[in-house]
Amino acid sequence: MTEPRKKITLPYLFDKVSKAEPITWLTCYDYPTAYLQEQAGIEMILVGDSLGMTMLGYDSTLPVTMDDMIRHTQAVRRGAPTAFLVGDMPYMTYQPSVETAIRNAGRFMSEAGCDAIKLEGGAAMADRIKGIADAGIPAIGHLGLTPQSVSALGGFRVQGKSAQLAKKIMDDAKALEKAGAFAILFEMIPDRLCKLITERAENCIIMSLGSGPHAHGQLLIYHDMFGLYPKFKPKMAKVYGNAGEVILNGLKNYHDEVIGKVFPSQVNYFGMPDEEYAALEEVLGLRRPAPQEPVEVPVETPIEVEDEEEHDKKKKDKKNKKH
Ligand code: KIV
Repeated sequence: MTEPRKKITLPYLFDKVSKAEPITWLTCYDYPTAYLQEQAGIEMILVGDSLGMTMLGYDSTLPVTMDDMIRHTQAVRRGAPTAFLVGDMPYMTYQPSVETAIRNAGRFMSEAGCDAIKLEGGAAMADRIKGIADAGIPAIGHLGLTPQSVSALGGFRVQGKSAQLAKKIMDDAKALEKAGAFAILFEMIPDRLCKLITERAENCIIMSLGSGPHAHGQLLIYHDMFGLYPKFKPKMAKVYGNAGEVILNGLKNYHDEVIGKVFPSQVNYFGMPDEEYAALEEVLGLRRPAPQEPVEVPVETPIEVEDEEEHDKKKKDKKNKKH
């Protein structure tokens, strides 16, 4: 039997970086998927606020609340007890103030068993990262395409393609690193920009989502990997299997089999003993009681009973004989 995996910790992640071994990271939002990811050896799991789209069916991540996140993160933790679990701070749970940020980051740790939190934004969010890190909570930054600001960024598009914007992203990265972020995720920035940032990172793990192979590790959105999100397929998402198609075919089959009375077959349901069923029918008045076998009554020697008159006569006769 294989030994259960040891808990993935910060020192484990930094050790991988020092050995130039890429770190594996996936999004996850529910217990059964977390269980599979843990079995597959995935090291980091992000409960992303992308669950607003992939699980709750919103058009963006903006309506997601802290309570939504906590509920899903708790389920993921139950399925993946040893993964390094990251809670993604939803819209307006850290932007208003440093204190709001620390309080909500604390909820991920105390209520959902997270190992770290992630939040979006550059230099403007450095004080939030510092506050959270100073409170003893490992913090991850998120730069490049940041979905909570998609409107300000002009849509889901590659960020930092011009020298000027690339330099801004590099400055933001340094600000987050200085503030205490132990890792930064870069989403959809050019590969060479990500390489420059990775080479310059001093004590910070650089992760890539659609930003090329030069980072310390890779993140993918689970639903994109398995064709589970019908609305769009980003270029960066490699499809490792079309689970969506498999499930859809299964659902159609089930529908047809029920209509065609093919399902259920005998292996899919349960019987009961004949005599119990017969007894039930009797109780319900659906059948007459079974005819009873005739009972043989043993013949007994009849007890002689004399009537009162006869009794008195016999008594008198006895008396007379004596005299
Ligand atoms: O919410 C999420 O899944 C994310 C990824 C897009 C990185 O933040």
